[in-house]
Amino acid sequence: MGQIRLREWREEDAPVVLRAFRAPDMRRQSAWPVITPKDAVGWIASWEGAGHAFAVTLDGQVVGNVAITRIDDHDTGWVSYWTIPEMRGRGVAAQATAELARWAFGERGLHRLELSHRVDNIASCRVAVKAGFLPEGIERGRLRYDGVRYDVERHARLATDPPV
Ligand SMILES: CC(C)(COP(=O)(O)OP(=O)(O)OC[C@H]1O[C@@H](n2cnc3c(N)ncnc32)[C@H](O)[C@@H]1OP(=O)(O)O)[C@@H](O)C(=O)NCCC(=O)NCCS
Repeated sequence: MGQIRLREWREEDAPVVLRAFRAPDMRRQSAWPVITPKDAVGWIASWEGAGHAFAVTLDGQVVGNVAITRIDDHDTGWVSYWTIPEMRGRGVAAQATAELARWAFGERGLHRLELSHRVDNIASCRVAVKAGFLPEGIERGRLRYDGVRYDVERHARLATDPPV
């Protein structure tokens, strides 16, 4: 694979954000629907002061997002990620999430990074494990979408965990 890098989101990235959110499995990755170019610009702008989101680039092209939100007084943060559908399965999310963790521990001084995935989101589970986030257990019925409850698995990585 080419060179994966993280950089700040820019307003001109809106078209790729719009394309990304056309995938049905991206519906839950935003607090509101991202359907129009204006929504995509708004999605980028919404990160201002809301956490740390990075555009993931592969050989200079934006192919995904990694983010840390909900940073608390215990130096714990919440990780999320997505990759545009045509670039999935190449290790983009795993590499970008590992890079995000290096930044969070090394530059941002966090101690613990958490994430959760629905137990039926096997790709997300693989990303977490490959990026060094150890499984910490199942939370039963944690989420409800369209009237259906889903179990989720929690993963976390500590600053003191071995590098991946
Ligand atoms: C989850 C997601 C980020 C993975 O992105 P990606 O760039 O394809 O991830 P990677 O290529 O680094 O790793 C994907 C892993 O999942 C595996 N995988 C993908 N689809 C799978 C499936 N249906 N069943 C089992 N494994 C699957 C791949 O084989 C790979 O594992 P491997 O390296 O052991 O072979 C991407 O599918 C996505 O954006 N999904 C929608 C948003 C989302 O679910 N985000 C996470 C919310 S918790």
